[in-house]
Amino acid sequence: MPVLPATHSGITKAVQALLEGLPVGMPTETVYGLACDARSDMAVARVFAAKGRPSFNPLIVHVDSLASAQSLVEFDPLSLQLAQRFWPGPLTLVLKRRAECPISWLVSAGLDTLALRVPNHPVALQLLAAAAIPLAAPSANPSGRLSPTQANHVQLQDSDVEVLDGGPCAVGVESSVVRVVDGRAWLLRPGGLARADIEQVTGPLASPSTLDGLEPETNQPYAQGSAPQHSPGQLLAHYAPSRPLRLDAREVAENEALLAFGRHVLPGAGAVLNLSESGDVTEAAANLFAYLRTLDREPFQAIAVMPIPHEGLGEAICDRLRRAAVGAALAADR
Ligand code: TXA
Ligand code: MG
Repeated sequence: MPVLPATHSGITKAVQALLEGLPVGMPTETVYGLACDARSDMAVARVFAAKGRPSFNPLIVHVDSLASAQSLVEFDPLSLQLAQRFWPGPLTLVLKRRAECPISWLVSAGLDTLALRVPNHPVALQLLAAAAIPLAAPSANPSGRLSPTQANHVQLQDSDVEVLDGGPCAVGVESSVVRVVDGRAWLLRPGGLARADIEQVTGPLASPSTLDGLEPETNQPYAQGSAPQHSPGQLLAHYAPSRPLRLDAREVAENEALLAFGRHVLPGAGAVLNLSESGDVTEAAANLFAYLRTLDREPFQAIAVMPIPHEGLGEAICDRLRRAAVGAALAADR
């Protein structure tokens, strides 16, 4: 895919493409997004098509400021506190669309809510300022595969899509998705902002793993088995490399590559990448997708993954690994 430098002329070119209704690869602090004009049905449809994304899975809208977000959605007091505290940053808030909200209904996948965030990346903020439109952007990977954390990891069917190069993503896992319902905050997707940080503002977070999801439209619990999960995109199989993943490995088989964590690396693997030698989960998150990508190769038949603690960004890492393991198993079945 053509890569644009994050210079004045690169950004001008990207803006031109966006205003013509074309998708553009955009760096953020979490992962690279496939951005488009969020108001245009045609542009949004192109993004769904480029990813092969199921249309029931809504997109995140990126804006340059809280004030811009407030023109699109209604903020309850707790969501407002979260935005004031954590934006720009890796937190996405799901909020009710205003009646006059100009965002394409495809973005919301027919729900009356919108997921929004202000990304904390200078190139994304420059692009938002220069384009002066809200940008819908899912992660820039084919649906179900690993998210890109570098410009050259953006690989889509449509090879004409230009990608703005903002360097490697500092956070490395997607944003945390939060929704407040009747004053209670739900963590719909663990991500780049740790649970403990969010809970400083919200108190204990409810989550679809502790309680079954709420139906977004009615705020009623989903009928048993009727919907994937509270956050519609949180399908169990996701973020997958093409080789099987074996989680919580205590030893390594001969044909396995090893994704290690911490100082005491399991012996015997033909290839080892260590997410963090010092056992730092924040560093591990930043390396996660790029390392999985690198280990997903011949002559290995599988990737063994050492246990990773659930604290801090470890919760998001373990969530992604669990989904990647299911996704890889399904891919192997096909
Ligand atoms: O860090 C990120 O969030 C990256 C960067 C590019 O910003 N974007 C990203 O987008 O991960 P995507 O499309 O891969 O994931 C969006 C998540 C999905 O789980 C989706 O279901 C959820 O947000 N979501 C979007 N709109 C929603 C809504 N109205 N209600 C509930 N969940 C929503
Ligand atoms: Mg994604």
